[in-house]
Amino acid sequence: MSPKTHEAAPEERAASPAEHAASTEAGEVESPNLDFAGTTPYEDYVQADVLTHLQHLRSDDPGEMVFLVTTQVMELWFTVIVHEWETAAHALRRDDIPTAQNALKRSLRELEALNASWRPLAQLTPAQFNSYRGALGEGSGFQSAMYRRMEFLLGDKSASMLVPHRGAPRVHAELEKALHEPSLYDEVLGLLARRGHAIPASVLERDLTKRYDPSPEVEAVWTELYSGDEHADLARLGETLTDVAELVWRWRNDHLVATRRAMGSKTGTGGSAGVAWLEKRATKNVFPELWTARSHV
Ligand code: HEM
Repeated sequence: MSPKTHEAAPEERAASPAEHAASTEAGEVESPNLDFAGTTPYEDYVQADVLTHLQHLRSDDPGEMVFLVTTQVMELWFTVIVHEWETAAHALRRDDIPTAQNALKRSLRELEALNASWRPLAQLTPAQFNSYRGALGEGSGFQSAMYRRMEFLLGDKSASMLVPHRGAPRVHAELEKALHEPSLYDEVLGLLARRGHAIPASVLERDLTKRYDPSPEVEAVWTELYSGDEHADLARLGETLTDVAELVWRWRNDHLVATRRAMGSKTGTGGSAGVAWLEKRATKNVFPELWTARSHV
């Protein structure tokens, strides 16, 4: 059958479900529409033309394309994950654990996809990376605002991380808002307190713009939740958060190993000590008491 157009004869109009089934049985299958007055509805929704023309390469090296696109793909996953964690944080504030769990569970599959996107860069040799490294100038993932929002949601707040973004008002405003808002973990601890668990006031009323520091009292609460069946929904929430923490740790480690392979112990384009700095970052536990409580259960 020839492709359908808006000038199609009446008998070629879009088939009703019953007609469609009948024509399929008869061996005829409707073809997609080809004729649109303006841009396609797909383009209007996805903006693929915008997305696939954002690859402004800075070198002649054929390997730079996959470096740039992998970075852009990761930025998109960061954006989705921030959306899920904000959804979860807002739901927890309303004591709505099922909505929070659904968002966190979605984020687990997204974190797996994010981590899988290391594959094309995981075995870069120093010579391959050098072919376009110079073209990156001082550009570094360290300056990723969306990654920083992920870190803030995990509780790793720091006002100094806003400094690189002073020149970009919208990005700076979004980060500043995120700095002052409770993190995902703050919302979890708020929920535990409302459910009668002994989260200390010093934790609940902490300065939200500072990094979350582990507390022995919070560790004791998780130990209690994990030691019996009485609070199964909260223990399940703890396990989903542990899954999140583990996958974030995997991203950091995959990044660390890829960096070690691609540049050894050279300094980073962002000005840090490179691998040594990333190693320190990778040792930090996300949701620390969820890990330490395990020794006491
Ligand atoms: C194999 C290629 C890569 C190398 C060699 C590399 C190297 C580095 C280095 C040395 C740092 C430390 C800061 C600095 O001095 O620049 C860094 C930080 C960072 N990179 Fe990469 N990177 C690579 C790929 C990527 C990709 C694809 C992303 C995705 C967005 C990314 C995201 C980040 C982030 C978010 C940080 C900051 C981490 C933190 O604040 O803890 N990197 N990278």
